[in-house]
Amino acid sequence: MDRAEAWRLVQEHVSNRNIVKHMLAVEAVMRALARRLGEEEEGWGLAGLLHDLDYDRTRDDPPRHGPTTVEMLAGADVPAAVTDAILAHNRHKPASAPIETALLAADPVTGLIVAAALMHPEKSLAACDADFVVRRFGEKRFAAGADREQIAQCREVGLEVEEFLALSLEAMTAIREELGL
Ligand SMILES: [Fe+2]
Repeated sequence: MDRAEAWRLVQEHVSNRNIVKHMLAVEAVMRALARRLGEEEEGWGLAGLLHDLDYDRTRDDPPRHGPTTVEMLAGADVPAAVTDAILAHNRHKPASAPIETALLAADPVTGLIVAAALMHPEKSLAACDADFVVRRFGEKRFAAGADREQIAQCREVGLEVEEFLALSLEAMTAIREELGL
């Protein structure tokens, strides 16, 4: 599956525009991480872009989130590493491979960065710098839904939290028009 086919699936199956933006943001972070780590960028990008593909179908059935995406991708030519990462992101398998740990960390970091951009006086990603995001990370009650321990799992793929936040901010800023931020 190439990126164009994955994007077609997202547009076909995900009706909530904010979820689509979230999936694009996680894709951007995963691609940046893959480049930083010398990993396979296309696969990491697919894992990010597709990870919530089943959102419309499992919104009211959280335990099925993940396995349903894998069912939706059955028959498509998607690497097992990608579907494994999608299962691991909702704890349907333990995260062990770097792509799995990376997706666990990338998922909440995008929410933290969106919240930081929205609380910035200019309400834009371009106006935020890494220090601003690092400070928001340290405020436990800010965007409390963005699980700090899960974000800090970036350490398991070799990045300190500060570097991961900076890399994620840069990746999301590069697609800020798609994100509307
Ligand atoms: Fe997600």
